[in-house]
Amino acid sequence: MITTGICRAHTNIALIKYWGKRSEALFLPMNSSLSLTLDAFYTDTKVSLDDRLTDDVFYLNGRLQGAKETAKISRFLDLFRRTAASSTRARIDSYNHVPTAAGLASSASAFAALAGAANEAFGLRLDKQTLSTYARRGSGSATRSLYGGFVEWHKGQDEQSGSSYAIPVDDADWDIGMIIIAVNTGKKAISSREGMKRTVDTSPFYPAWVTTAETDLQQMKQAIAERDFTRLGEITESNGMKMHGTMLGAVPPFSYWEPDSIRAIQKITQIRCNGTPCYVTMDAGPNVKVLCRYSDSERIKEELLTEFSSQQIIVSRPGPGIKVLSEAEWQY
Ligand code: DP6
Repeated sequence: MITTGICRAHTNIALIKYWGKRSEALFLPMNSSLSLTLDAFYTDTKVSLDDRLTDDVFYLNGRLQGAKETAKISRFLDLFRRTAASSTRARIDSYNHVPTAAGLASSASAFAALAGAANEAFGLRLDKQTLSTYARRGSGSATRSLYGGFVEWHKGQDEQSGSSYAIPVDDADWDIGMIIIAVNTGKKAISSREGMKRTVDTSPFYPAWVTTAETDLQQMKQAIAERDFTRLGEITESNGMKMHGTMLGAVPPFSYWEPDSIRAIQKITQIRCNGTPCYVTMDAGPNVKVLCRYSDSERIKEELLTEFSSQQIIVSRPGPGIKVLSEAEWQY
């Protein structure tokens, strides 16, 4: 017998970053974070439970994946098998809708979609908040992709897995946009997992990151409640810069920035000085993301075209939370 579950999840970009774990085994973060879910990038995943299978099989964008990738997915599905008291293996089909130039191969949308599809396939009916604690065990940032708009991921107060989950903060339907400037789409040398561990273990700047991230989060939630875009942007830019600062203090030091990242940051600063509010944030890679008013996004894009090609610039609106799809909606 085959039982299926299908789910779509959008990726998210953190405005208050998650950087550092207090438990690597449970993916419990050192600090709470807050993100914006994006409309332009998503993953569709189908989990087909099949009692004839002896091992999980994993296809990504139509290609059968190797032992290492499959083992990661199997371990993740084990969390659902345990809850469902099931030992049934699955075929997993996953499709990433990320413009190839964007360089946002996102584990956030991947694990959120897989969590949603597994929840359906195993018939668990876990609510979204609980499901976010499962998504977290695949990749921390996936916790936030359960919901649309602005989303907070609570760090949690104890060492129990259930205490660290996501909650929706605001649906962001008030003239909010994000522009991705794809500087380099190649694979990064240091994964976020490795980078954050080295920072926690060795950077003397790290304790300051943890304390100020909490204040940044409180102030950002207030800015969102007041729909104060300027304040929202200022906190976003400052929080992202601080995260990158912690890496320069690590031993050995490292940075994800490339010359074109700095070129993009300078251009955005110039556009802002000329009167259009827009603010940068960067993750564990060289690409630059720009928080802006959606109504300003085409004008900002025009200005960026003096420095970058049109394929390097992708504009997105805020996106929705996870959505269960029917077989009829599975288009592959
Ligand atoms: C810089 O979620 O990719 O993008 O939990 O180890 O899988 P793991 O890390 P991941 O880290 C994301 C780090 C970040 C900031 C953020 O998204 O909050």
